[in-house]
Amino acid sequence: MKILEEKIKSEGIVLGSDILKVDSFLNHQIDPFLMLQIGKVFAEKFKPNSISKVLTIESSGIAPALMTSLQLQVPMIFARKHESRTLSGNFFSASVYSYTKQTENQIAISKKFIGPKDRVLIIDDFLANGQAVQGLLDIISQAGAVAVGVGIVIEKRFQAGHNLILSKKLPLISLASIDRFENGQVIFCKKEVA
Ligand code: G4P
Ligand code: NA
Ligand code: NA
Repeated sequence: MKILEEKIKSEGIVLGSDILKVDSFLNHQIDPFLMLQIGKVFAEKFKPNSISKVLTIESSGIAPALMTSLQLQVPMIFARKHESRTLSGNFFSASVYSYTKQTENQIAISKKFIGPKDRVLIIDDFLANGQAVQGLLDIISQAGAVAVGVGIVIEKRFQAGHNLILSKKLPLISLASIDRFENGQVIFCKKEVA
C-alpha cells in the first residue's frame, strides 16, 4: 500500500535491529484518514469471504480493525489483555507469549460475542512472531468459529509470524511488508499490496 509505505518512510523510526516505531500514526497518535484507507483495502480484499466478525487485540489493533469492520458492516471485537470487572465468568482465553518482552500474557473474549456461526477476520497492527495471531486463532477454535483470514498493517517479513500463518493455510494480507532494516532505513519487500 503506497501511502502506508510513504508514511513509514517519512515518519517511522528504526530502533535497534528489529523494531519500527510508528507512534505518530499507528501506535500512539492515530491518523484516522490513513486508518480509513486501510479499512477500505482490507474490506475490499476479504469481502468475498462472508465475514461476520472482525477480531483484534487491544490496544493498537483496534483502529485498523474498527475501520475494516465499518467497511464490512459487521461488529469488531477486541480481545482484552487485562482483567476487567465487567469481563467475568464466561469467556474464552488463550495465552500469548511475547518474545520481545519475554512474558506470557492472557487474552480473553466473552463467549457472548463469538460462536460456531462466526466467520472471523483477524486484523492487527504488527506481525512479528505471530504469537498474538496464534492466541486469537486458539480462541476462534475454542468458540467453534472459522478463521477466514488475517490482515496485517505492517509485517516484519524477517520474523517468524508470516510463515506461521501461511503454514496454517490462512490467507494473509500485509499492507506493508518489511524485508529488512539497513542502516536505520526500512527496506520493503518487492511485491506490494494495493
Ligand atoms: P507477535 O504477536 O507477532 O509475536 O509480536 P511480539 O510478541 O514480538 O510483539 C509484542 C508487541 O510488540 C505487540 O504489541 C506487537 O504489535 C508489538 N510489535 C512487534 N514488533 C513491533 C515493531 O517493530 N514495532 C512496533 N511499534 N510494535 C511492534 P502489544 O504489546 O500487543 O501492544 P499494543 O497493541 O498495545 O500496542
Ligand atoms: Na503494538
Ligand atoms: Na498489536
